[in-house]
Amino acid sequence: MTHPIVELRDVTRSFPGPPEVQALKGASLRIDAGEYVSIVGPSGSGKSTMLNILGLLDRPSVGEYRIEGHLTGDLTEDQRAAVRAHRIGFVFQSFHLMARRTVLDNVLMPMLYSGVPRAEREVRARQVLDRVGLRHRVGFLPGTLSGGERQRVAVARAVVSRPSLVLADEPTGNLDANTTGGVLDLFDELNAEGLTLVVITHDPAVAARARRRIRIADGRLQEVA
Ligand SMILES: Nc1ncnc2c1ncn2[C@@H]1O[C@H](COP(=O)(O)OP(=O)(O)OP(=O)(O)O)[C@@H](O)[C@H]1O
Ligand SMILES: [Mg+2]
Repeated sequence: MTHPIVELRDVTRSFPGPPEVQALKGASLRIDAGEYVSIVGPSGSGKSTMLNILGLLDRPSVGEYRIEGHLTGDLTEDQRAAVRAHRIGFVFQSFHLMARRTVLDNVLMPMLYSGVPRAEREVRARQVLDRVGLRHRVGFLPGTLSGGERQRVAVARAVVSRPSLVLADEPTGNLDANTTGGVLDLFDELNAEGLTLVVITHDPAVAARARRRIRIADGRLQEVA
């Protein structure tokens, strides 16, 4: 039996304050393998809070989160790190690449912790860089690349370990319209190949590219028809 990739049940995340803020309020969400979901909402609506919980970077105050059927609430920090390494890829607005390492090294990095045999790592990193159109940039340092190229390196890094889920937080926030289009095209293609993708954004045009759209306002989720 295959489990949903993501299953949130009545998840609330409160920050004690004072004043106490409920950044997520009774959020329930199921995401199946192969879905491409956007979560759109204004500043302060709970988007990053949601992403941090989905990415096991934070824990619900109330409610439960299962990833591929595994309850996450009782896991130790080490176990959560292992789940992240094996099952989740991240793409951030500001790329978060290692500046002193080549493009290839950046993409090799996640596989150091995911049990991929050494001989296979470089083959896979080169394949995925080829896949995102950066074969000609493998030896470059990130600082010498354009914003769109940097984000494609970050996408390559996010998918190289073949995670179950890729989470992107404002992935086009630092890109111009043209470059944004290139990254969104890449997301379409990777999703068509079976990647499960959640994109968090305040940009309705970016949200509209997903096949399923969820709005978040004041910590509450709402499916968009
Ligand atoms: N560590 C924290 N301590 C206290 N309050 C927090 C904390 N993190 C977030 N909040 C509050 O929770 C609410 C949601 O924050 P969140 O960062 O999830 O918003 P967001 O939708 O990502 O906004 P933005 O688009 O500006 O990034 C905000 O009111 C914020 O002040
Ligand atoms: Mg945010």
